[in-house]
Amino acid sequence: MASNEIKNTKTIQSLRGMKDIVNEESALFTYFIENASRIAKNYGFSYIETPLLEETALFKRSVGESSDIVNKEMYQFIDKGENDVCLRPEGTAGVVRHFVEKKLDRAGGNYKWYYYGPMFRYERPQKGRLREFHQFGCEVFGIDSVYEDANIIIMIKEILEFFGIGFTLKLNSLGCIECMPPYKENLIKHLTTFKEQLCEDCNRRILTNPIRVLDCKNENCQLLLNNAPKITDNLCNSCHSDFEKLKEILDFNNISYEVDSNLVRGLDYYNKTAFEFVSNEIGAQSAIAGGGRYDRLVEFLGGKSTSGIGFAIGIERLLELVKMPECNQDVIYIGALDEISINTMIKVANKKRKTTKTLVEYAPRSFGKHFGIAQKLGANIVALIGENELKTNTIYVKNIDTQEIKNLNLEEF
Ligand code: HAM
Repeated sequence: MASNEIKNTKTIQSLRGMKDIVNEESALFTYFIENASRIAKNYGFSYIETPLLEETALFKRSVGESSDIVNKEMYQFIDKGENDVCLRPEGTAGVVRHFVEKKLDRAGGNYKWYYYGPMFRYERPQKGRLREFHQFGCEVFGIDSVYEDANIIIMIKEILEFFGIGFTLKLNSLGCIECMPPYKENLIKHLTTFKEQLCEDCNRRILTNPIRVLDCKNENCQLLLNNAPKITDNLCNSCHSDFEKLKEILDFNNISYEVDSNLVRGLDYYNKTAFEFVSNEIGAQSAIAGGGRYDRLVEFLGGKSTSGIGFAIGIERLLELVKMPECNQDVIYIGALDEISINTMIKVANKKRKTTKTLVEYAPRSFGKHFGIAQKLGANIVALIGENELKTNTIYVKNIDTQEIKNLNLEEF
């Protein structure tokens, strides 16, 4: 059988929960990345790109073995070299891996990186929840001041405001190694008294990660949790004063927030500040950004104790709320009226492209045909060259918006 013979004509679809980003959406996507990157750079962040594929152990040790992400949602496999690897479900772990691998924990100083790209979670797809989705994130190392927590929140607000997005900021403190363990014990005692009434997931979590019970989505569980002890009432002095200070800075900067002591986040590496920006305009999957402090994560990954804080924005969710601004940028369409004008027409088009979006039709066509194609392509300026124009070194130019027609000298055009 010839190697180029077509054997199977069944069309292939993209995988469930994964999609192409194209046309208006890709225009919005690049518009978002350009402007979010600009804002991040103004806040002192530089770009980092880490691999999509990492050792599975990286996520087990950072995101946490008891988290749903690691337990149920990883795209994990053994590669041809027998390595246990997985597609990254989030961006923080890879950046921390880089930080430790390059021994920056020993170099001292502080580091600020931003990144964007695809993340993979084998979740049940629904509106706003994909298996391949994109995040824009920032990570900061070596700054333990609560002013940096506020700075991160102010920066996210600036990004969301630039795109005209309304939000509610939910804020919590998850305490530290001193106050979280006794709080957890207390919580377990409380939950155990009515554990038969809690759902199956909560019962599992009481054993593996009791604070995750607090953000169970089951309405019955939420009712039962009304009297549960709150972490915000059980913070040690240092966590308490940092949390108070953070609220004070946010108040001073006119940033409203809701303290939500049930906000525990789905990743296990957080301590102290945890936050989420939610929108009530995009349905059940309402979190458009989330983040917090992770002062022990560098140690979890074998580095020297270094404070860290960061966030990630879910780009697909955010783009549901973003509108492309109206901009009247010219789009030029250039065509030839006959065979002998094509070379000159292409030369002129290439010069024009240095400053303006310029579309070219290679085949010679009549006036009417050119205008038809230009209209389909959305051009607002039609420029045509034929034998007459060649002789006089000119080009016919019509501005569709103003209906103005000119015969311009080629140099002038
Ligand atoms: P996360 O809350 O898991 O945090 O994800 C951040 C954002 O990604 C969410 O708020 C949401 O907008 C979006 N997102 C998450 N899962 C999906 C999905 N399946 N489909 C569509 N969008 C989704 C993190 O990933 C942390 N690494 C954030 C961070 C950075 N914390 C500190 N530094």
